Amino acid sequence: MTTPEGSTNNASNGSRDLPSDSLEILQLSDPHLFADPEGRLLGMRTLPSFRHVIAHASKNLPSIDLALVTGDLVHDASPAGYSLLKKELANLGIPSYCLPGNHDSPEILHRSIAGNPVDTPFSIQKKGWSIILLDSNLPGCAAGYLDEIQLAKLQDTLSNHPDHHTLICLHHHTVAIKSQWIDAIMLSNANDFFAIIDCHPQIKGIACGHVHQSFEGRRNGVLLMGTPSTCFQFTPKSAGFEIDNKTPGYRHLTLLPDGAILTSTFHLSQYTYSIDRSSSGY
Ligand SMILES: [Fe+2]
Repeated sequence: MTTPEGSTNNASNGSRDLPSDSLEILQLSDPHLFADPEGRLLGMRTLPSFRHVIAHASKNLPSIDLALVTGDLVHDASPAGYSLLKKELANLGIPSYCLPGNHDSPEILHRSIAGNPVDTPFSIQKKGWSIILLDSNLPGCAAGYLDEIQLAKLQDTLSNHPDHHTLICLHHHTVAIKSQWIDAIMLSNANDFFAIIDCHPQIKGIACGHVHQSFEGRRNGVLLMGTPSTCFQFTPKSAGFEIDNKTPGYRHLTLLPDGAILTSTFHLSQYTYSIDRSSSGY
């Protein structure tokens, strides 16, 4: 692991003078930690790769205001695993906001993590932006679902802050990414979600995890972003479950006062790890 390998898939911030009141965000996703620091997923130790990503991002992005951690936080959903996550995130020295994925227990997550500087809020308001963190966990199911409570809170928060540019975060992807197996476990009631999104022009971006790969797209002018995992990646556009060769990664977002979003993803330039590529799922 040495220098950053950036993949600038949307808009680079390299050639633009950024206003001082822009909001700088590190998105981490799918760390899949365990209670056991030696814990492995498909043979890969997930804690060391998480630590390498955090160290890399801290060096590569020195002016980050906050971190968003978009689910599949603790693979065994254990209180000890969440305590470990909290301890590791605290090393960033900035506020970190977490939401659950399909491998998490929302209840244990909130109980174990809520506090300062690591927290599990529904929304935060900063520098003229709202950031909304949705819980798309459906117990016992790999696909995502936003229940009536989540949808009502989303609607209320958007109605209460109509003048704030808004970034929505959730674990599951909300549009298909042309990978058959993972599109079968995306947000299952995306129509309910977009019925609300489409009525609120202040929404500028939707960032997810779950897909273990980088993607960007647009829907009705809203930027859609998928983010690499801090452990292994999935091969884009594969019909069945397949592990990619890409190294652990993360996303950088700059939210500008005019509502624009600049974003890039980064992968560790070198990271050697063992993994079972013959697995048919995880
Ligand atoms: Fe995951």
